[in-house]
Amino acid sequence: DIVFVLNGPNLNLLGTREPEIYGSTTLADIAAMLEQKAGEKGLTVDFRQTNHEGVLVDWLHEAHTEGAKAVLLNAAAYTHTSIALLDAIKAIDVPVIEVHLSDPATREGFRHLSYVGMAAVDEVKGMGANGYAVALEKAAAL
Ligand code: DQA
Repeated sequence: DIVFVLNGPNLNLLGTREPEIYGSTTLADIAAMLEQKAGEKGLTVDFRQTNHEGVLVDWLHEAHTEGAKAVLLNAAAYTHTSIALLDAIKAIDVPVIEVHLSDPATREGFRHLSYVGMAAVDEVKGMGANGYAVALEKAAAL
């Protein structure tokens, strides 16, 4: 089974981006860690990052056409703005698990609304890079 791991804007800068909030682990570190964990579970991870909203929409559609078991989605700031992502998640049969390194609920008010969360089957927040591993466990158990 394949699990898509889709990362949104500015997450390519993980490691140097506001490390006091997001930690010093890079996205490449997270990808390597997840690929190893997935291998142990007999899963394949397709790990991607884009700064473009429509590309995330395309990749959600692709997860559906590829018959992915689940999507782990850290839509970053688009989480809080994108009705297009909400609609895409609703349009596909693949379960989506919302992931955030930080806990948006404890931050600025504009991060409290999650369009992704309106359609996601589960969420992992505030656990830093390890949250991706926790989300993969949840995906494996679906
Ligand atoms: C984030 C939280 C979002 O509010 C923020 O816009 C991000 C990263 C996280 O992983 O904590 O870019 O999704």
